[in-house]
Amino acid sequence: MKGVVLAGGLGTRLRPLTSITNKHLLPVYDRPMIFYPIQQLAAAGIEDVMLVTGGNSAGDFLRLLGDGSSFGLNSLNYAYQEREGGIAEAIGLTRAFVGSDRFVVILGDNILEDPLGPFVEAFRAQESGARILLKEVDNPSDYGVAELNGDMVVSIVEKPEHPASPYAVIGVYMYDSYAFDVIRGLEPSARGELEVTDLNNAYLQRGELQADILSGWWADSGCSIDGLLEAGIRARQISREIRV
Ligand code: DAU
Repeated sequence: MKGVVLAGGLGTRLRPLTSITNKHLLPVYDRPMIFYPIQQLAAAGIEDVMLVTGGNSAGDFLRLLGDGSSFGLNSLNYAYQEREGGIAEAIGLTRAFVGSDRFVVILGDNILEDPLGPFVEAFRAQESGARILLKEVDNPSDYGVAELNGDMVVSIVEKPEHPASPYAVIGVYMYDSYAFDVIRGLEPSARGELEVTDLNNAYLQRGELQADILSGWWADSGCSIDGLLEAGIRARQISREIRV
């Protein structure tokens, strides 16, 4: 199983904090934002990771993260996304790295309380296809939203005006290598991006999309200045609980 961390994009919602640096290098409590997803993958037993970055300060990731050995990784590889072409485009850049393996993608601004290990194990046990994680939220319109029938996902809509449920699709996605065939056929959305929601819906149409619901807290720390502050406060709470 390979790991992919996405840290591209321009972080415009966090300006001026991101005017001269990459969003994922900003502090969230006691460490740079990008540490959280890398530590999550490493703790789930994923040893080979590719970080996709873009925009400002790409070289700073190399200085900060090096070869990944300080996180316990076997290898940390890097790719550069030339423009903000969307999450699915960024995933497409990891094709040669992933090869015919399966892989777990985590967005560089997503911070989760729950360990990823059990979800990754469930994906390993799955014969093929994809797996996503859902979290009940108060503001589903800000996210990809899953419509559910029992515990089955029936559709996913990106940032719907009238959400069909309170379940956000969080930024952790697990795929087999069929994902790269889908991405090659995707068309840019109205906002000019290759959408991860279109990739997930392609698996859904094949009956190959499984979903788990998160119980612990989840933060999209890059969604707004308040989101960044909230993520820092939650991260501090957790580190205090662990220390006690
Ligand atoms: O956080 C979960 C949400 O993330 C999902 O519910 C949505 O379905 C998904 O589209 C995404 O929505 P956002 O609007 O929050 O995505 P954002 O543009 O903030 O990008 C999220 C991360 O993906 C960010 O940390 C950087 C990375 N990214 C994004 C784009 C657009 C890239 O690496 N390259 C890109 O071109």
